[in-house]
Amino acid sequence: MKIAIGNDHGAVELKNHIMRYLEEQGHEVVNFGTDDTASTHYPIYAQRVARAVLSGECERGVLICGTGLGISIAANKIDGIRCAVCSEPVSAKLARQHNDANIVAMGARIIGPVLAESIVDVFMNTEFLGGRHKLRVDMMAKLEKGEALE
Ligand code: RB5
Repeated sequence: MKIAIGNDHGAVELKNHIMRYLEEQGHEVVNFGTDDTASTHYPIYAQRVARAVLSGECERGVLICGTGLGISIAANKIDGIRCAVCSEPVSAKLARQHNDANIVAMGARIIGPVLAESIVDVFMNTEFLGGRHKLRVDMMAKLEKGEALE
């Protein structure tokens, strides 16, 4: 799978670890993040990864900042992005199965590298269940377009 990855200055080390790990698992990884620990702004990297996913250049995305929060909030401002912050693999599995999440976010100050490996493993290898969950994902798409729900 071709995966977009992005990070701010707080997550360079974890980004490098996860890039290497995903490549070892046979994925192709495109680095849209900073490789510099100098202070920068997480919305920039959220936007780059979101664009790569929405354009179809990459199938899924990984975003990492200090907490995973700012970068996920920024990504979710973009129409078509469903970004889930995960600190353990169960949430990553359900984010794929129920929410059809296309980006997983993690916090480099929250979790360690081994937990992050499990999270991305599950996120990349779990399919959306569709069915009643699709109805709800479609409802979220309506919200993005400013449409009212019944
Ligand atoms: C940057 O200092 C920090 O605010 C950022 O990495 C992230 O944790 C924000 O949500």
